[in-house]
Amino acid sequence: MAIERTLSIVKPDAVGKRVIGKILSRFEDNDLQVVAAKLVHLSKVQAEQFYAVHSERPFYNDLVNFMISGPVMIQVIEGDNAITKNRDLMGATNPSEAAAGTIRADFASSIDENAVHGSDAAETAEQEIAFFFKPEEICEYTR
Ligand code: CMP
Repeated sequence: MAIERTLSIVKPDAVGKRVIGKILSRFEDNDLQVVAAKLVHLSKVQAEQFYAVHSERPFYNDLVNFMISGPVMIQVIEGDNAITKNRDLMGATNPSEAAAGTIRADFASSIDENAVHGSDAAETAEQEIAFFFKPEEICEYTR
C-alpha cells in the first residue's frame, strides 16, 4: 500500500458538538497521522470555491451556508491508503446509511449536517489540500 495524504474537514455541526478530539482520535487510532491542521471560519467565497463542483446541485446553497455557519477544523491526514481509509472511517454521506461505528453514524444528524468531509480520490485530495494549505504548512513525519 502507498502512503497517501487526504483532506479532512470537521464540519460546523461537529465542532459545535465539541467532538473534534473524538473525530481526530478515530484517525490516530487507525494509523492516520495529522500532518497539518487549522481551525477556521470559512468565508462565503471560500466555501463556494471549495464546493464549486456541486454548484449546479440543488443542495449547493444550503451546503455553502452550513459550511460558513461556524468554525471548521481542517486537517491533512497521512498514512497507508489514507484516502479510502478516511472514507471508510467517515461512513456513508447520509448518516442514516452509515455503518455502525463510523464517524457519521456516531456524530452526524443528517445528510446536510454530516460532521465530516473527506477527499474522494487522489486527484481531489491533491487539489483540496492545496486549496487550504501551503506546502510549508504540512509537516514531514518520520515513521
Ligand atoms: P461532503 O462530503 O462534504 O460533500 C458535499 C456535501 O454536500 C456532502 O458531504 C453533504 O453534506 C452535502 N449534501 C447534501 N445533500 C446531498 C446529496 N443529495 N448528495 C450528496 N451530498 C449532499
